[in-house]
Amino acid sequence: RKKVTIGTLRAMHKRGEPITMITAHDFPSAHVADAAGMDMVLVGDSLAMVALGMEDTSEVLLEEMLLHCRSVARATRAAFTIGDLPMGSYEIAPEQALETAIRFVKEGRMQGIKLEGGKEMAPTIAKITRAGIPVLGHVGLTPQRQNALGGFRVQGKTSDGAMKVLEDALAIQEAGCFAMVLEAVPAEVASIITEKLSVPTIGIGAGNGCSGQVLVQVDMTGNFPPGRFLPKFVKKYGDVWSESLRAIETYRDEVKSRQYPAPEHTYPIPKDELEAFAE
Ligand code: KIV
Ligand code: NA
Repeated sequence: RKKVTIGTLRAMHKRGEPITMITAHDFPSAHVADAAGMDMVLVGDSLAMVALGMEDTSEVLLEEMLLHCRSVARATRAAFTIGDLPMGSYEIAPEQALETAIRFVKEGRMQGIKLEGGKEMAPTIAKITRAGIPVLGHVGLTPQRQNALGGFRVQGKTSDGAMKVLEDALAIQEAGCFAMVLEAVPAEVASIITEKLSVPTIGIGAGNGCSGQVLVQVDMTGNFPPGRFLPKFVKKYGDVWSESLRAIETYRDEVKSRQYPAPEHTYPIPKDELEAFAE
C-alpha cells in the first residue's frame, strides 16, 4: 500500500471518498490499523483512559504522549500519523504550541498534530502550520474542556450553538488546518458545516455527512470488559475482550491441568545426549 500523504487526503476529499481514521496507542494497535487500510492513525489523548487507565484526558503528560507516539510510528507504514497535543502543552501561547508540535514530529515521529479549540486557537494553528507541521483541528465537543462545557455534551444543538461551531470551523480553516475533527454535533449541523468548508471534516458523533470518520479503536473493537459505558455514536464492530479472555482462561486451565505445553511445544535432545546427561 502506498504511503498516505496530505496530498492523498486532499485528493480523496476532492473526489468525495470518505477518509478513514482510527486511534492507536501502541505498536500492536497501530500495526493492525495500518494493516486494515486506515488512511489516518491518531494517537489521541484518549490513550489516557484506554491505555493508561486514567479518569480523563487532563491527566496525561506530554512525555507520555510522546512515548506512545514513538511506538505507533514504528508500526505505521502507510497511514498518515497524527499526534494529539495534551492539555497544558499548547494553550499558553502559540510559541509553546509550536515547541510542543515540533517535539511530536522529532521525538514522537508524527507527521501532523491535532489540537482542540476554535477561533481562539487560530493564531496557534497559523503558527504551527507556517512551520510546516500539518494541523488537524478539533471543534464541537472538545473533551479537554469538559469542566468548562459542563461535561461531555452535544454541541450545536441550538441555532446559536450551531453558529458558534460553524464560526470556529471557519476560523481554524482560515488559520490553515488541513482538516478538522467535528465531535458530537447533530448530523444536520455537521453536514451543513462540511458543505461550507473547503477542508475535510472528520466526524465522531457527527453523522454521515462529514468528509470522513474517526473512532477510538478500543471502543470499536470491543476491547473492554462488559458493562462499560459507551457513547451513543460508537458502533462495536468486534469483541476483542471476549476473545482475549477466552484465550487466557483456556491457557490458565491447560497449565493447571498440565495439558500445556504438549510435546509439540518442546525442544528435542538426542537420546544418547540425554542418557549421558541423566546419568
Ligand atoms: O483522543 C481521541 O481519541 C480523539 C478522537 C476521538 C478524535 O480526540
Ligand atoms: Na483527543
